[in-house]
Amino acid sequence: MVEENGATNAPGVNGRAYTIVDHTYDVVVVGAGGAGLRATLGAAQSGLKTACISKVFPTRSHTVAAQGGVAASLGNMGPDDWRWHMYDTVKGADWLGDQDSIEYLCRNAPEAVYELEHYGVPFSRTEDGQIYQRPFGGMTTEFGEGPPAQRTCAAADRTGHAMLHTLYGQSLKHSAEFFIEYFAIDLMMDDDGACRGIIALCLNDGTIHRFRSQKTILATGGYGRAYFSCTSAHTCTGDGNAMVLRAGLPLQDMEFVQFHPTGIYGAGVLITEGSRGEGGYLTNSENERFMERYAPSAKDLASRDVVSRSMTIEIREGRGVGKEGDHIHLHLDHLDPKVLAERLPGITESARIFSGVDITREPIPVLPTVHYNMGGIPTNYHGEVLTKKGDDPDHVVPGLMAIGEAACVSVHGANRLGSNSLIDLVVFGRAAGLRCGETTEAGAIQPELPASASELALSRLDKMRHASGGTSTAELRLGMQKIMQNNCAVFRDGPVLEEGVREITKVWKSSGDIAINDRSLIWNTDLVEALEYDNLISQAAVTVFGAENRKESRGAHAREDFSERDDQEWMKHTLAWADDATQTVRVDYRPVHTYTMTNAMSYIEPKARVY
Ligand code: FUM
Repeated sequence: MVEENGATNAPGVNGRAYTIVDHTYDVVVVGAGGAGLRATLGAAQSGLKTACISKVFPTRSHTVAAQGGVAASLGNMGPDDWRWHMYDTVKGADWLGDQDSIEYLCRNAPEAVYELEHYGVPFSRTEDGQIYQRPFGGMTTEFGEGPPAQRTCAAADRTGHAMLHTLYGQSLKHSAEFFIEYFAIDLMMDDDGACRGIIALCLNDGTIHRFRSQKTILATGGYGRAYFSCTSAHTCTGDGNAMVLRAGLPLQDMEFVQFHPTGIYGAGVLITEGSRGEGGYLTNSENERFMERYAPSAKDLASRDVVSRSMTIEIREGRGVGKEGDHIHLHLDHLDPKVLAERLPGITESARIFSGVDITREPIPVLPTVHYNMGGIPTNYHGEVLTKKGDDPDHVVPGLMAIGEAACVSVHGANRLGSNSLIDLVVFGRAAGLRCGETTEAGAIQPELPASASELALSRLDKMRHASGGTSTAELRLGMQKIMQNNCAVFRDGPVLEEGVREITKVWKSSGDIAINDRSLIWNTDLVEALEYDNLISQAAVTVFGAENRKESRGAHAREDFSERDDQEWMKHTLAWADDATQTVRVDYRPVHTYTMTNAMSYIEPKARVY
């Protein structure tokens, strides 16, 4: 028996002993980005003993890079209504979103933002002291019939940064405990399919930590690093998603990958959509504002999938800019330098550092760049993880929750609207905290862990640590990233996707040949990168398999061989299971929720999606 919070030498794996430290919490949150911190704060506020585990220092989580803002119908800059926000989100999602969850998101958004304000987020202000809101793509008024909505609440162009610092401070104030620079290895599942906690490696001293908890909340973010060029941090390896796959549970709608129209050409660094919200526009090699042709009404503020496709067509048809004609120009040089300094200081600096451009004088070279994963761990709007069990497509997995980009609630469906990500983090982080308060008894005695509870994690760690193959992690990762970039891009086509399936399977199969040189356990980045690659490859596989399988175009999934949306056949969520042992993917489906949460809004019927 291991003593509470004490260390012991476990029997180990392959004759090698590992020092294990046991902990018991009511709630354990994995990930300290916006969603993880908001859930940590909420669970702690509910009086639950709460721990948050993070592989980076909380304020370095990827939310820190979120720029443009957080969507909520406050109506500070003109009339607004959460029902208009809901309509825009359903349309943006191309009718793959669950409308009960979308109602939950949009109704609760204003309260979630006011809470942030009261916690201390330093929002930019209007002349009369209200929270400043800017226009963002796809956000309209009057159910799409009125002028663009100014709905995106901003702290200059460093909104995520401001939120993260505030939420971390608030979590500490409510006595949440943080395990910083701990790398989560795997979930502990029991024989009844319930989650009983998580196992993590302390990067600093190499000890293994077994966190037993009534609720485990995965807030581990997206997996942008499966691609060669992305706006995501190097830490965005979807660790929670991969743990869910290894637990024999499915991921949902992974084929829907968002390309942000304005990543800096060559560097992939984000230039916020807020720049177009403030009046920026795109041009081709003929100096034409080409978005007027593709989206006559919304123009440069059409939704991201539409803008990214239009840019790609311009480049393909020979109207790209630069020596190679392979990118597009984003103009901010016509805007008042005072506005740029006040509202877009961050991207002013990024453009200078990463493209050598002074945005007050020259356009920024940009290219659609992988930015966000609409797919993830299926959940309901309380944050409870769902799986398909028998005839029940919405079976709740006991003890396991997921929020933020790791989750697929699904509010973003086939395409997320800009600034709906930050609001998703706080609304569903808050929802998960509230749900824990309703369903978890503080300090309840937890059953002993099954004897095999740590086996999966320890054997995975030990196998990787002693891997002695002939291929470096870097080589395997690059192979995967190039395939994803070339075979699962803005436009997709049958033969290219089929090749993608074959090629990604080859890389997946060759992963057993991985080589690790450092066998230590203390700050072993060789080992951590290998574990992260191992997490990425199964997600890459379900992504490309799902894309090949879905024979229609919807939102960010644009197939040249099936160019229309097919609601008859394909208005359904993809569920994908991955088997690392056989390198195979199994696909099934869940119905989209074609009902709302309350009578305040009725179901929004599908129609053609034009901007
Ligand atoms: O463009 C941006 O500022 C990104 C926002 C988002 O992805 O929601």
